[in-house]
Amino acid sequence: MTDRSAVTVRVPAKVNVQLAVGGARPDGFHDLANVFLAVGLYDEVTATRAASLRVTATGPDTDRVPLDRTNLAARAAELLAARYGIAPDVHLHIDKDIPVAGGMAGGSADAAGALVACDALWGTGASRDELLSICAELGSDVPFSLVGGAALGRGRGELLTPLEVGGPFHWVFAVADGGLSTPAVYREFDRLNAGVDVPEPEASPALLGALRAGDAGALAGVLSNGLQAAALSLRPSLAATLEAGVAAGALAGLVSGSGPTTAFLAKDAEAAGVVAEALAASGTCRAARVAVGPVPGATVL
Ligand code: C5P
Repeated sequence: MTDRSAVTVRVPAKVNVQLAVGGARPDGFHDLANVFLAVGLYDEVTATRAASLRVTATGPDTDRVPLDRTNLAARAAELLAARYGIAPDVHLHIDKDIPVAGGMAGGSADAAGALVACDALWGTGASRDELLSICAELGSDVPFSLVGGAALGRGRGELLTPLEVGGPFHWVFAVADGGLSTPAVYREFDRLNAGVDVPEPEASPALLGALRAGDAGALAGVLSNGLQAAALSLRPSLAATLEAGVAAGALAGLVSGSGPTTAFLAKDAEAAGVVAEALAASGTCRAARVAVGPVPGATVL
């Protein structure tokens, strides 16, 4: 046990600069070549000692965040406690800034944050590998929320190889009204690809090279998201957002993960500011946020 009475962990959002999706596996998941980039929009998870497990949340759209044990942060505390034979008695407070159900791994960030916060609060001293294995049990994107930076995710996205990135990339994120359910987007992907021989997902060498070189122009030419057609099919209005961002001078735009957030790569910080302003005024999204990536993963404050 430590003598800390509260631990706060800051965890970033992610954008997928490449999301290559294979056919559905027998377990219902899809094999991926998933190039994750952690970006500077953050949730903060604070763990405090309590008589029993409790979750609270503040921030935009937290009326859509479950506060019971179905919250991934609560499940993270329970899994860690079970491994160490202790009671998961903790109050987890989530201060959310990552769009809820937005395709930016907000729920995964909260799970990784809760895990690291509880580990520090309880003094369980879990190894990095143990934490990563609990993350993988919690969800496909949770291991990346822990490590941050940039990484290639294979398997269902949980088998990570860190990637070198040669510079900051400047992004604008257009936040949509309402969320999209990730399982629903994968189901739509399956529907759109029924009868199609979906190729094995592979990371693009050109994309990995552009990341390594820190070359935004080159990266813009190879951004790709295999879930984009499915997200657009469920939310056709995103096409107008994508058009507005590119018309405002973004190098390229794509749907972030399973959406509905859209992500725009800009040439530099100044261009990102211009694109954000134009998107905010375009009436095609609720809000536009600028963020730089890569940034570190879950960090104790
Ligand atoms: O792993 P996670 O709980 O985040 O996945 C949520 C849902 O997204 C899964 O239940 C599945 O429907 C879908 N999914 C998938 N293939 C992946 C990752 C997620 O089909 N690689």
